[in-house]
Amino acid sequence: MIKRRGLMKKDKSIESLLKVEEVYEPPKEFREKAWVKDESIYEKAEKDWIAFWDEIARTEVEWFEPYKKVLDDSNAPFYKWFIGGKINITHNCLDRHVKTWRKNKAAIIWQGEPENDKRVITYYELYRRVCRFANALKNLGVRKGDRVTIYMGMVPELVVAMLACARIGAIHSVVFGGFSSMALRDRINDAKAKVVITMDGFYRRGKIVETKKIVDEALEDAPSVEHVIVYDRLGLDVNMVEDRDFWWDDVQYGSSWKCEPEVMDSEDPLFILYTSGTTGKPKGVLHVHGGYNVGTHITTKWIFDIKDDDIYWCTADIGWITGHSYVVYGPLSNGATVLMYEGAPDYPKPDRWWSIIEYYGVTVFYTAPTAIRYFMRLGEEWPKKHDLSSLRLLGTVGEPINPEAWKWYYRVIGGERCPIVDTWWQTETGMIMITPLPGVTKLKPGSATKPFPGIKAEVWDDEGNPCPPNVGGKLVITRPWPSMLRTLWGDPDRYIKTYWSAFEGKLVYFTGDGAKIDEDGYFWIMGRIDDVLNVSGHRLGTMELESVLVAHKAVSEAAVIGKPHDIKGEVPVAFVVLKDGYEPSVELKRELREWVRKKIGPIATPEEIIFVTKLPKTRSGKIMRRLLRAVLAGQPLGDVTTLEDEKALEEIKKSYEELK
Ligand code: WTA
Repeated sequence: MIKRRGLMKKDKSIESLLKVEEVYEPPKEFREKAWVKDESIYEKAEKDWIAFWDEIARTEVEWFEPYKKVLDDSNAPFYKWFIGGKINITHNCLDRHVKTWRKNKAAIIWQGEPENDKRVITYYELYRRVCRFANALKNLGVRKGDRVTIYMGMVPELVVAMLACARIGAIHSVVFGGFSSMALRDRINDAKAKVVITMDGFYRRGKIVETKKIVDEALEDAPSVEHVIVYDRLGLDVNMVEDRDFWWDDVQYGSSWKCEPEVMDSEDPLFILYTSGTTGKPKGVLHVHGGYNVGTHITTKWIFDIKDDDIYWCTADIGWITGHSYVVYGPLSNGATVLMYEGAPDYPKPDRWWSIIEYYGVTVFYTAPTAIRYFMRLGEEWPKKHDLSSLRLLGTVGEPINPEAWKWYYRVIGGERCPIVDTWWQTETGMIMITPLPGVTKLKPGSATKPFPGIKAEVWDDEGNPCPPNVGGKLVITRPWPSMLRTLWGDPDRYIKTYWSAFEGKLVYFTGDGAKIDEDGYFWIMGRIDDVLNVSGHRLGTMELESVLVAHKAVSEAAVIGKPHDIKGEVPVAFVVLKDGYEPSVELKRELREWVRKKIGPIATPEEIIFVTKLPKTRSGKIMRRLLRAVLAGQPLGDVTTLEDEKALEEIKKSYEELK
């Protein structure tokens, strides 16, 4: 049992005077068996953080040739790690396991959305499939450094496709299967992908998503693409373009089941993953073989305390960074058994996830606060139908978790037995950065606790001075780390500008998040402070939505802000100024919502469209989103002296009141 203290205070009058905080201690039995049982690991890492990473890199992953130097900061912020080392991440995810008893261990347990669609793939089988598919890619002319876009649902072949690219040194760019054809096209074109790997379709909430059709639309204007490989998941009758499109099975026919991994330099690119930023264009975050392998390997091992008898389930879609690092690379590098589920969390009934945990005996479970809040609302009776006693550790990621949801998760899902690791990190960081270590860290609901050993995170004010305890500021990382992004694909200037230029004269990584640190050194993440929304744990740029809206023929200007939402955390709300000749109407609202959905994807659909004749702007023409947010929240407006025209705001208030 995790012991609680704090709430046990006897003297009520003192209790009301003090800020009472609950603290949950790691259970003794957990600690005794954990990979990390001793807090001194933090001190050890602080004493010499280079030596700390060196030891991990040397002992936890295998190298074809040892590196000569741990860190090269001579061209910062273009940091390099494990200089001169030769490696291939797929060697660590596959070859080294098949040399041991793990050869016959389950690598992937796959559960399709239809209950009877199940598969178990051993490490040896995964290894063989990856090799064979890698050979097929080679036969199609894919070479080291070429980009391959992967657009698929959650099937094992998606993992095979990623690893096959990595094996031959091609750079994969996985695009989330929920993105629209336009979003897919932009990403294919930005990466200049040579090959697209996709499938006919997949199941989602009992319906079929016709993936190949979306790819065909995207390819109407994607000149770099030479070939498309289509995995046949559903037996759909899809359009196949002659000499361009090949079926998954056909393209491999006759290929060898053996393929030696390409010997990669530590710093050779592994993948690009697009994420939203503060401008309209998504950013291609670039990760490399060496540092990314080291960072995701050790964080998976220590934070999820992965052991050989675990059944590990991270519910993230592989199309996001959480899926890359903690469904695919981190767990496979550790030789773990990974559970993968194709469908919706609540289909056919709201207990689907809990029934999967019971059926497979899941031991470690990692999900997002938005899902926890959703299930909390549906009621305890759904998880209570199932025996969840196999669980020993829980995790969350993607957004701040409110203490109420944390406690529900702890009590109802974890049976007051499982520590919860609230993990803060980003697409750019590649690995978890702020997190408990479950065997040693005392937990406070709502806090991601402390930086991982070797990581230095701080909270700074606008001038670049550390904030005193409990004072909010900008979350910065003041020291490089192995799995950091190396650049933005094709745009090194934007890399510097976005991440390394927040404080003049100081080269630190700015996260885009606000945070505060309490008197115990615990981090409390407050959410994005730039123009990035977090909708159900997914990042969306306000500018991205705005540029899609203004591309509609009726729209002259648009401003998008996030409105707090009980389950999703935040939802987009759009203020829209129409062009002359267009009148506000219910139909136009519907049309605009559909437009955004079509152009970006369902997650971006604005919750509300509010028509106005003017947006509040500064005299220099910048939209004051802060004021829009205040209007929506019914909060005081604060300083409005820079506002160009106060009437704009009056009208917005009125339109919003009418809407309510
Ligand atoms: C937010 C997801 C609070 C944060 C891995 C960050 C969190 C953004 C947490 C990155 C957490 C992620 N507590 N906020 N535990 N984890 N975030 O790139 O705002 O999709 O900047 O990576 O999610 O989102 P991304």
